[in-house]
Amino acid sequence: MDLMEMFFIFLGAVVVLYYAVKLLLFSRILFPKLWFPLSKTFFTSMGEWAVVTGASEGIGRAYALALAERGMNVVIMSRTRIRLDMVAKEIGEATGQTVKVITTDFVNENVFSEIEDQLKDLNVGILVNNVGMLPGVVPSRYLDCEDLDQTITKVVNCNVKTLVKMCKIILPGMDKRGKGLIVNISSGIASIPFPLYTLYAASKKTLSNPLYSTSELETEQTAVSPTPFWVGYCSIFLSRSSMLTCCYAAYKPTSRVK
Ligand SMILES: NC(=O)c1ccc[n+]([C@@H]2O[C@H](COP(=O)([O-])OP(=O)(O)OC[C@H]3O[C@@H](n4cnc5c(N)ncnc54)[C@H](OP(=O)(O)O)[C@@H]3O)[C@@H](O)[C@H]2O)c1
Repeated sequence: MDLMEMFFIFLGAVVVLYYAVKLLLFSRILFPKLWFPLSKTFFTSMGEWAVVTGASEGIGRAYALALAERGMNVVIMSRTRIRLDMVAKEIGEATGQTVKVITTDFVNENVFSEIEDQLKDLNVGILVNNVGMLPGVVPSRYLDCEDLDQTITKVVNCNVKTLVKMCKIILPGMDKRGKGLIVNISSGIASIPFPLYTLYAASKKTLSNPLYSTSELETEQTAVSPTPFWVGYCSIFLSRSSMLTCCYAAYKPTSRVK
């Protein structure tokens, strides 16, 4: 075997090894429960209550139900009382946990003082910032959006301001208790250029970075762990309990726990 041949065999082996490791790491996404076995008490150890925004249907409803199945009381929030009541009944009957309903429209200004009032006596261990909206049903270029000014206000209020404000309401309690988990539902769209959804993508991008560091700064003495979460994959591939396992896998308590 000459030197050149040995070089190519070595190169081939390195490439195969590289992709084998990548495949192994990718299997963490496909089989989260296998890689990150979740203790039954993990979520309840954070606190008594979980708050989920946009929980009358879809992913938010699934989180609320999954967290209640894990023994948490849940606060569910959205605009439609009748749908929230149905979900509350469903969760209560299925799990025996207490469900509190808050009806609100996050697009509106000045809704947060009332929400703060309703949450003030609860020991909230988990916040799922799930609510999110698209600028319109039909994908369109940014400048071609109908009522652009109004659309910007709606999307920013619902997708960004709500998250920041909910953190402002919930974090002080977590900070005091020295523990808590915040799950921010972002989107796969935030990670790639997406021409016909730029406003939505920009709003979702904000969820994965600045709040993460802001929250860490604000809570440097606690174990609060904001968890940016890409839902493109989550909604397609994950069961309810696997969604929770992924939150657990991404949970990183800061080193300076009180
Ligand atoms: N589904 C996906 O494939 C996917 C992919 C990427 C990211 N996401 C993100 O995942 C999150 C949930 O998506 P989803 O598909 O589960 O949504 P969905 O099925 O449309 O549910 C949205 C929830 O938010 C509530 N909501 C909407 N606008 C609201 C407002 N202005 N104020 C208060 N509540 C409001 C809705 O209830 P009411 O109508 O009763 O208010 C509903 O409970 C969103 O942040 C979305 O951007 C989803």
